[in-house]
Amino acid sequence: MNLSPHYQSGFANEFASEAIPGTLPQGQNSPQRVAHGLYAEQLSGTAFTAPRHQNRRSWLYRIRPAAVHEPFAPLAHTSFHNRFDEAPATPNPLRWDPLALPAAPTDFLDGLVTIAGNGGPAEQAGIGIHLYAANRSMQRRFFYDADGELLIVPQQGRLHLATELGVIELEPQEIAVIPRGVRFRVELPDGEARGYVCENFGALLRLPELGPIGSNCLANARDFLTPVAVFEDVEGTFELVAKFQGALWTAAIGHSPLDVVAWHGNYAPYKYDLRRFNAIGSISVDHPDPSIFTVLTSASDTPGTANVDFAIFPPRWLVAEHTFRPPWFHRNVASEFMGLITGVYDAKAEGFVPGGGSLHNCMIGHGPDAATFEKASAADLSKPDVIGGTMAFMFETRKVIRPTRQALDAPQLQRDYYRCWQDIGKHFAP
Ligand SMILES: [Fe+2]
Repeated sequence: MNLSPHYQSGFANEFASEAIPGTLPQGQNSPQRVAHGLYAEQLSGTAFTAPRHQNRRSWLYRIRPAAVHEPFAPLAHTSFHNRFDEAPATPNPLRWDPLALPAAPTDFLDGLVTIAGNGGPAEQAGIGIHLYAANRSMQRRFFYDADGELLIVPQQGRLHLATELGVIELEPQEIAVIPRGVRFRVELPDGEARGYVCENFGALLRLPELGPIGSNCLANARDFLTPVAVFEDVEGTFELVAKFQGALWTAAIGHSPLDVVAWHGNYAPYKYDLRRFNAIGSISVDHPDPSIFTVLTSASDTPGTANVDFAIFPPRWLVAEHTFRPPWFHRNVASEFMGLITGVYDAKAEGFVPGGGSLHNCMIGHGPDAATFEKASAADLSKPDVIGGTMAFMFETRKVIRPTRQALDAPQLQRDYYRCWQDIGKHFAP
């Protein structure tokens, strides 16, 4: 069945969508008989009693309820997990080259490699950071993650995300979020794909507060797109893979679980085009903190201290005067994983390449490399600078991001990364 994407605009609105007109019940959620012989099922993404402005749930009207499948059995997967205690967390800055695209047939799920994380699904806090590199669509298999929502950041190749609530077409410089529990299948229209995944075990991602910025800017709510209902009425031999408490499980299922004919509610997948981000920056002197680039945030139980912030470094003008314009040298109580989708990041002359990643944990000194420092220190600040053709991002967390054993042993780890700061000279001249 050809599922083509169509979208509804807004962030976590009370959406309503039906693939067959007249399906949604009027005046109640679960009437004795749903139209067209469908079943009513609620999918809750927050506690029943979460405050109204945070409460997220959707009602699904589907051909069969989600309970209809064979029992789950453990599924081995060597590289995708939540074991963040395998290796000592190092106080060294770390940087990796991109994963190679696979040679053997590898779908999105097979191609996930966990490189770092903190917290875990049991405590419902922290994140997992994964890379994917794949060369074929998921065939006759579906996946859901009970441990967290999945923030997918493609770096190369488009993704076709067929979910229970509709279809998202995604390309590099766009992101998608698949909520905890939503079943989906990933197809690769370009044959190959590579990117990053943040698995958020904590509070649901939402738009940051804007404070004195006001009612506009950064990511605007109307630019978030949630798919409309489409369904597959297909029977056959399929596999349903679940991620539950850090491990994968597999069950046989005799039909496509993408059989939701209509749904309403505010708990649904969405996408956002990072190129629509309205960047804010200094027009006088000095930088704002990088929190000014936050696209989405997951709150912790401490106000102002996020479980994870997703921030981007998009194309923008630099106009501040009497200022060192690239990101400054800093140490930070938070921990920062960075990735690069395209172009060049303005704090590094070389070594940080699209598809690669870097990790600067709590209080690790970092900042521009020597070449960038020298160039920026001599730059003509009477003219604006434009940073074009780039898109970098950061997953910033309150807890230390612990690399996995496989990330520390990987040939992609740049064991000479520290050298990028060793040519920084002494200029002290009292
Ligand atoms: Fe940093």
